[in-house]
Amino acid sequence: MNNFESVKGKVAIVTGASRGIGEAIAKCYAVNGMKVVCAARSQEAGEAVVKEIREKGGDAIFVPTDCSSKEQIKKLVETAVAHYGKLDGVVSNAGIGKGGTPIHEYEENEYEEIFDLNSKGVFAGMKYGAEAILKSKSKGGFLINVASIAGLLPQRGQALYTATKFGVVGMTRAAALDYAEHDITVNAICPGYTQTSMFDGIPEQAMQFFLKDCPAGRLGKPEECADLALFLASDMARYITGAAIPVDGAVSAGHMNVISWKHPEILQ
Ligand SMILES: NC(=O)c1ccc[n+]([C@@H]2O[C@H](COP(=O)([O-])OP(=O)(O)OC[C@H]3O[C@@H](n4cnc5c(N)ncnc54)[C@H](O)[C@@H]3O)[C@@H](O)[C@H]2O)c1
Repeated sequence: MNNFESVKGKVAIVTGASRGIGEAIAKCYAVNGMKVVCAARSQEAGEAVVKEIREKGGDAIFVPTDCSSKEQIKKLVETAVAHYGKLDGVVSNAGIGKGGTPIHEYEENEYEEIFDLNSKGVFAGMKYGAEAILKSKSKGGFLINVASIAGLLPQRGQALYTATKFGVVGMTRAAALDYAEHDITVNAICPGYTQTSMFDGIPEQAMQFFLKDCPAGRLGKPEECADLALFLASDMARYITGAAIPVDGAVSAGHMNVISWKHPEILQ
């Protein structure tokens, strides 16, 4: 099947769906006929996303959830199954960035803060999600974790964030082995510099750095991650599992170097 018909009617949880990449994934899923359970902490922002989805004819509910609490993730999964009768997929997207400082300047409590959401929250999404997907006897189940290029290539000043994202990539690949024979795919999306609130208010100098560091010369759009999330949820991607896929304009592909074109006139 080479279209997205296969996702129609699938039930998916998307965490951190109130803005940014999670919002883009939730909307993309809904517009393609999936039933979406949007989770985030902010009732107002989460309900606003669901309202927009419904106004366009989509099917979604909002479940207020602090994704750093495994009890709340468990309840989120139970609510999704109680409402829609089954679960096909979980996109564990909620995450925070910390740092921009050398490791000795981190506050001690930042360790718990970032690991509770970026690592423990993702573990809980996979644990309770996989259980519910298996019980649902889903045809085409999937777990998608939104990691980062920091899960592929350590980032300066981001020791804890890097540690959580490497962990997410590791959990993803290990869980892919757990569920491959049960037809649940498990993959990670690794965004590069993506235009979301994570970039709100950053100094111009830092923005120039990010643009220069990206071979594509621009920030990514949240919708570009959503397109990959849709593909991974579809039956076109049933043999793709255990992958950590960058969506990053080649940031993680390697080091830039100096080159000269023999025939630059080809661009004219
Ligand atoms: N934007 C980027 O450049 C970038 C790059 C690499 C990876 N990522 C990853 O993408 C994911 C989404 O980030 P984003 O850029 O859309 O950020 P964002 O800050 O715009 O969105 C984060 C979402 O997570 C939610 N969230 C935060 N803490 C939460 C909690 N405790 N419980 C429930 N929800 C919570 C927020 O409400 C929001 O909906 C994160 O895992 C992030 O690490 C982003």
